[in-house]
Amino acid sequence: MLDDLEKIEAIDKERMRDFLLEFPLHCKRARRLAEEYPIPKELSKKKEKIIICGLGGSAIGGEILKTLLHHQEDVAVFINRNYSLPELAGRNTLIFAVSYSGNTEETLAAYKEARKRGCPIFCISSGGELRRRSEEDGVPCLVIPSGMPPRCALGYLFIPMLRVLERANWLRPYDYEELFQVLIDLRDRLSPSVPTRENLAKEAAIDLYGKIPLIWGVEGRTDAVAHRLKTQFNENSKILAFWDVFPELNHNEIVGWGGEGEIDLKNFYPIFIREKGEEEKIRKRIKVTQSLLEKVGIKGKEIWTEGRDLLPKILSSIYTGDWISFYLALIQGIDPTPVEPIDLLKRKLSQDP
Ligand code: F6R
Repeated sequence: MLDDLEKIEAIDKERMRDFLLEFPLHCKRARRLAEEYPIPKELSKKKEKIIICGLGGSAIGGEILKTLLHHQEDVAVFINRNYSLPELAGRNTLIFAVSYSGNTEETLAAYKEARKRGCPIFCISSGGELRRRSEEDGVPCLVIPSGMPPRCALGYLFIPMLRVLERANWLRPYDYEELFQVLIDLRDRLSPSVPTRENLAKEAAIDLYGKIPLIWGVEGRTDAVAHRLKTQFNENSKILAFWDVFPELNHNEIVGWGGEGEIDLKNFYPIFIREKGEEEKIRKRIKVTQSLLEKVGIKGKEIWTEGRDLLPKILSSIYTGDWISFYLALIQGIDPTPVEPIDLLKRKLSQDP
């Protein structure tokens, strides 16, 4: 059915395919938005720490930023996915408060706490309470287009953080032209109009049908990718999925793959996030791990990053994963957009006890 565009339209009622097709464009537009935004005075002097406050689709950009800064700069980056801030947050900590809807209660609570502690804050949101409060408080807020599922707005939620920091000279600027080109090439290879035999994402979705994906990245390189793919399988494909990283998983998870326990390993599907030119030690670990899996009849799949720099590498493999999770929803007959359990939970939490 993945090559039948009418069937795709019938299942993908809320048209997630359009957001996926537009992802390269989102990244371009997001960069322009950040280019035009006046650099707030709070950013003129580099701080010791950055904390990105956000949840789910609004947090993953923070993980990407953390990876990039890990390789470039002397700023410590933390992700905060809870109501309160870590003790170390103070006047020398830049807070990015990121919420697509602007109404996520954990992010709003962290924002309030950051105000109390006198932290410089920069908000990114399409509206809601976060935008309202930041306007009232005179806190900079970059407003991004509304009307998308938050997880489809990754370009808008992530690129502005990176670009604003580059413009304020906190880190060396990335080559966005390479990024855009890599994403456009990928879009042209993975979109619904490309038949399954030539479409790596459709093929992967078919292989994954009925299985639980275990996505394995590399710490400090592709952990954000592995985490993002897990959440996209959860939210788009409505299945359980798990993630881990090398080398850590070589010190525990591989024991579970020994085949001694009473679990049918055929239910699981490992996905290796591979990087051209990955460290030799990591390459060797992956090779040995794959040979261990072969002993119990498991092959798994490799997703290779694309591009030269770490930025396109991360976003290309995330984009590939987004398409796989989208197609996996469709072959199960599931509309990828609605996330009813999340909506229900948010509704229940907002009601009085
Ligand atoms: C829904 C999604 C969720 C939200 C999360 C936080 O598409 O991805 O993970 O991102 O519930 O909501 P926001 O992003 O509005 O702060």
